[in-house]
Amino acid sequence: MFAHQIFWQRIMNISQASKIIKGRIKKHPLWLTHVITYTCNARCEMCARWQKEHDSDKELSKQECFNLIDNASQAGILFYTMYGGEPLVYKDAPDVLAYAKSKNLLTAINTNGFFLKDRINEVALYTDSIIVSIDSVGKKHDEMRKLPGLFDKAVEGIIASKTKVKLSINSVITAENKESVPHLINLSNELKVPIFIQPIVRSAGYNDHLMLSKEEEKNLYKQLISYKTKENRLLNSTTYIKNLLYGKVSNCHAPKVYIRIEGDGTIGFCNNKEWGNIRDTQLADVFRSSAFKYHCKNMETCTKCVSACTDISKLYNNPFYSVKIASEYLRNQK
Ligand SMILES: C[S@@+](CC[C@H](N)C(=O)[O-])C[C@H]1O[C@@H](n2cnc3c(N)ncnc32)[C@H](O)[C@@H]1O
Ligand code: SF4
Ligand code: SF4
Repeated sequence: MFAHQIFWQRIMNISQASKIIKGRIKKHPLWLTHVITYTCNARCEMCARWQKEHDSDKELSKQECFNLIDNASQAGILFYTMYGGEPLVYKDAPDVLAYAKSKNLLTAINTNGFFLKDRINEVALYTDSIIVSIDSVGKKHDEMRKLPGLFDKAVEGIIASKTKVKLSINSVITAENKESVPHLINLSNELKVPIFIQPIVRSAGYNDHLMLSKEEEKNLYKQLISYKTKENRLLNSTTYIKNLLYGKVSNCHAPKVYIRIEGDGTIGFCNNKEWGNIRDTQLADVFRSSAFKYHCKNMETCTKCVSACTDISKLYNNPFYSVKIASEYLRNQK
């Protein structure tokens, strides 16, 4: 029985690896990020998602989520990340993750952690990795996210999930919590969970007042460099931090790697560019189109944001960074 399981695991891994190779040869995205719901129980000031108008009635039904996964799988997608809004308020999240797993996708949830402890047993079997958002410690985090008790709930959720699924923390640094970095590093060490720390991404008209000044950004990057030691579990690659610190512009490959499905099914990723609606569009057709290929090439010089995806995208596109960044990520997963 055990040998049988290993055999199938190997086959699955080979089929997953072959998707990566095919995706890189054909240069199409491998990673689907899905806004499964617009609904959220928090009201983070930095987040434009709940502030923008949206029509919850247009959200994909459970069957449409399954169709999306079929569509994505046929287009060569390998990774499925569920987020929102808050994905764990979505009742059918476990069914959608189970469906993605049944299609041999690698699955992740990005959550604020409030319902993690309550729901981990429903999702653990179908989830490869959970990213919990924590921006500061204690009441400061609750205040930033306007949700009393959130920090304690997120930490409880992490502790309850640790033995069940691979975990990481994602922290966003804004003008409000720029003093929080040492506390976040301590938290990651205490919990023994790796952490990615990134500056806020601007959503013009929504979070401009929270942006870091140039000086504050530099201080953040210097701090991050000082925390890149083997005692810590800081996931950001040294290359990523140094490029930002020294203002070295390096090409962004994120649009070649990621595609996003909005709550209402709109297909997009960067630059407000839309590629139709998943209800009546095949992702494979989008990826094959010359307009999409042109867009990906065009965005290489974009420096609009410095999010985790810009760092990870280099894994797939530059052999030098691939080895360097992959080895750093693996080391920090300790
Ligand atoms: C939009 S949230 C949705 C998932 C879930 N509600 C959560 O907060 O984790 C996805 C991620 O975006 C991050 N985020 C929100 N606003 C941001 C901003 N302005 N810049 C960078 N990251 C942001 C959140 O901290 C979270 O890790
Ligand atoms: S918890 Fe997530 S989706 Fe909700 S407001 Fe905060 S960042 Fe946005
Ligand atoms: S820098 Fe940000 S906005 Fe620009 S292409 Fe890359 S991921 Fe998209």
